[in-house]
Amino acid sequence: MTNKKKVYTITAALPYANGPLHVGHIAGCFLPADIYHRYLKLKCEDAIFICGSDEHGVPVTIRAAKEGTTPQAIVDKYHTMMKNAFEKFGINFSFYGRTSAAYHHSNAQHFFETLYTNSKFEEETTQQFFDTEANQFLADRYITGTCPKCSNPNAYGDQCERCGSTLNPTDLISPKSTLSGGKPEMRETKNWYLPLNKYQTQLENYINSHLKDWKVNVYGQCSSWLKDGLNARAMTRDLDWGVKLSPIVKDAEGKVMYVWFDAPLGYISNTKEYIEDSWEKYWIEDNHTDQKLIHFIGKDNIVFHCIIFPAMLMAYNNTGGKQYILPENVPANEFLNLEGEKISTSRNWAVWLHEYLEDFPNRNDELRYYLTAIAPESKDSDFTWSGYQLAVNSELVAVLGNFVNRVIVLTHKFFEGKVPSKNIYGELENKLFENLYNKSKTIDEYLSKYKFRDALGELMDLYRAGNKYFADTEPWHLIKTNKEQTETVLNAALVYCYNLGILSQAFLPETAKNIFNLYNTSPLETDFNTIINGNHVALETSHEIGQAVHLFKNIEDIEIQKQIDKLKNNPANTVQTETNLKPLKDMITFDDFAKIDLRVATILEAEKVPNSDKLLKLTLETGIDKRIVVSGIAEYYKPEDIIGKQVSLVANLAPRKMRGIESQGMILMAKDSEGNLHFVSPTNTINTGADIT
Ligand code: 2FM
Ligand code: ZN
Repeated sequence: MTNKKKVYTITAALPYANGPLHVGHIAGCFLPADIYHRYLKLKCEDAIFICGSDEHGVPVTIRAAKEGTTPQAIVDKYHTMMKNAFEKFGINFSFYGRTSAAYHHSNAQHFFETLYTNSKFEEETTQQFFDTEANQFLADRYITGTCPKCSNPNAYGDQCERCGSTLNPTDLISPKSTLSGGKPEMRETKNWYLPLNKYQTQLENYINSHLKDWKVNVYGQCSSWLKDGLNARAMTRDLDWGVKLSPIVKDAEGKVMYVWFDAPLGYISNTKEYIEDSWEKYWIEDNHTDQKLIHFIGKDNIVFHCIIFPAMLMAYNNTGGKQYILPENVPANEFLNLEGEKISTSRNWAVWLHEYLEDFPNRNDELRYYLTAIAPESKDSDFTWSGYQLAVNSELVAVLGNFVNRVIVLTHKFFEGKVPSKNIYGELENKLFENLYNKSKTIDEYLSKYKFRDALGELMDLYRAGNKYFADTEPWHLIKTNKEQTETVLNAALVYCYNLGILSQAFLPETAKNIFNLYNTSPLETDFNTIINGNHVALETSHEIGQAVHLFKNIEDIEIQKQIDKLKNNPANTVQTETNLKPLKDMITFDDFAKIDLRVATILEAEKVPNSDKLLKLTLETGIDKRIVVSGIAEYYKPEDIIGKQVSLVANLAPRKMRGIESQGMILMAKDSEGNLHFVSPTNTINTGADIT
């Protein structure tokens, strides 16, 4: 084995700049990546931590349309919001960039151009849906229609959110453009495909070489993709938001790169922007350096980082230019749920990072601790507010904080706040430090294998052992009979506690800093290595320490209840990032609106319309008459459940026949993100026939 210098590039999946960050994102990749990067720095390794906002893709354009603004305005807003939240929370990127930046566009264009001029793409012409009114090709998410599997009338071109089926736009029954609402037509379009099949063997060799060091779930997903056989995949899209192809590409008008082509290149662009002169040291193979590229991601990103991005790099390397290294490891996490349910941005079922930072100021380490303790490393896990409270109160307060506090308080009480003499350590002290050396090695080993949850467990055991040492030695009694022995106990406890502070840095950086403040000192760069190499960092006798402060305080029930209430009862706070909202219709005048006669009606009778799964025949009291309205709500309401219900009626709509029944008006329904219909009703019962103005 040659002794090559190691360098590490740590990346965390570039978050989409179309909504704020929530705890699922943090637990999924940003926190483990941050811990790993801090750990490498503590080991005095050469490591950089690269990330940035992923600013392209269809969801950004949909969100822009929904908010009546431009895609650039959307990504500007969320890029700033995410960057600030990361900073405030203490995710310590070496560099946080963005993919809408000019530097990224030119880097991605150069990459694409190199593949293009070296004939690494295959051109293919296919039929795609085109909206003639909006005059553009439609991305899958811009097409809705009826799901062929479950008849959900609001399925998307790529997926039905009701039954979970993966779809092609052409599978949809009665497809509609979400841009114009019209029926799209099929048109020919040319795109550039990366023939993944050509890299099948090379990818197999690459993935197989990581059988032992990659997580089982990551390796498993890759093998299954490879087993199915890889196909060519389009790397361009007919859109106007994204990285445009460079002018040398023929017929590239109106095309941009597929977001999953440009986003991983963002890791490279951002490194270049960060360290223009030395970026190659981290990305381009060389004989003297052992370069390690580690991608922290969530499980939904595995194929992109383990198959597609490596295939892109292989294609580039085949052109004979610079030789990019391939990812060394991709420690993908599973998903974090919230209170037993999937985190949903559209339902606002999430704990938003920016809100946590506001509601729990100076409590970053509490969240870091809990999210690491429940990290979804090998299976999905569940964030609960009561679990958070328990972790803070019974572990951070009762174990860690309590130990540190007692060390400092007793030193002040018995030795005027000065480190007492060590005298001679006895059996208990030796055991205490033996355990420290052993567990530090285990922590090192776990961290090096991305087992952050286990590593944190070991660290907490060390704090527990500190409390046990006090329980065994009882310095508060000992001082009455044996001062010299008490000096030894407090010396050992102080030194031990300081060493735990050093070990805690990667997990709980603010707590570690607070411990060092209490000690009026800060560790040397090499101190972490001293400990994991089986030694400890000593303190000078008589060194003065500061006054005790509580590192953590209990989280009260009322604070937790507030969070649970917010989660369950706060629809006003809904942060919509999914694509269930349709674009705004054309402006109307007040006079247009005033033509509609809207009033409150009460349902007197309801029955199913024969031979229809969808329709109910309703008899309504309108205050001025009794009338029949046929409504497509049979899938959502049982007739017997809605008698007496007050609804909103469009009373002057021209009658029309449905299934042979004349419907005299229409009742208003609100459609939720799953496509379910709900009555729009007064919040209190009011007089039937009341005007809706
Ligand atoms: O899933 C996501 O949130 C993507 N924006 C991740 C991109 S990672 C990388 F390739 F940039
Ligand atoms: Zn379906």
